Amino acid sequence: MPVTYSSYLKLDELLSLQQPVSDGPEHDETLFIIIHQVYELWFKELLHELDYLKTLLARQDTPRALGTLKRVLTILKVAVAQIDVLETMTPLEFLSFRERLESGSGFQSFQFRELEFLLGIKNPAALERYPAGSANRRRLERRMAEPTVWDAFLHFLAGAGHPVPRELLTRDVAAPITAAPALQPVLIEIYRRDPMASTLCERFVDLDEGLQEWRYRHVKMVQRTIGGKRGTGGSEGAAYLMTTLNQPAFPDLWAIRTELGHAP
Ligand code: HEM
Repeated sequence: MPVTYSSYLKLDELLSLQQPVSDGPEHDETLFIIIHQVYELWFKELLHELDYLKTLLARQDTPRALGTLKRVLTILKVAVAQIDVLETMTPLEFLSFRERLESGSGFQSFQFRELEFLLGIKNPAALERYPAGSANRRRLERRMAEPTVWDAFLHFLAGAGHPVPRELLTRDVAAPITAAPALQPVLIEIYRRDPMASTLCERFVDLDEGLQEWRYRHVKMVQRTIGGKRGTGGSEGAAYLMTTLNQPAFPDLWAIRTELGHAP
């Protein structure tokens, strides 16, 4: 059989995957399913690119690392912008099928947790939402045990001759990334004297800010759609999401901004 557009993209399978569960079915459920599926595809692509970024950093390949970061940031912008589409759904339109979601929620998106883990936001409590031994739990456990993109970046900086503290290069990579005051003077020197590495630092800040922007737009969408109702995933809803808003992935890059100035 010759390859066609449809066979290459497996369109028959892809287009059979949007199956509303509400009676009728309710008109807006199709949009709700498609937008979540599109997000999961973008999460898959982001994981693919961020894994590649780690390989490029290990090879000290700065130009390609910058190109990959640009792609990641562009996808993130698209992901944030897509929230506009879902915001065309009114609270009553959502309520018309919400109860059919039962306990289903983006809370359980294992790819979103993988993304967080890969960026260094490693919360062991997130593992507990998946049954021990299940495929998704194992997937997350593997991500938990893996070095983060920040670890890859610190090794890259050390390889470029910057005096990254040894304890950071040998840290337990399953632990979350937390602020490391001993690294901050090193980063300040990089900003002053190494334009390529400092450009990479700025792209990491963009990435961190992009994820926070997604969290902000998501919580605003939640507030306008369900107000103060509890989430289908069992959390307090918007009140819980507000606690995640100011959670930087790369805290040292934010911390240095107060001190940052030209060399004396
Ligand atoms: C009407 C639209 C939406 C509503 C009302 C909504 C509501 C919520 C609520 C209340 C939570 C908190 C957990 C819970 O108890 O359920 C949550 C978490 C989450 N949602 Fe949504 N959501 C919507 C759309 C989306 C979309 C389109 C995505 C894209 C994948 C998404 C991804 C997530 C993720 C990843 C979390 C976990 C966030 C975290 O724990 O930091 N949500 N959502």
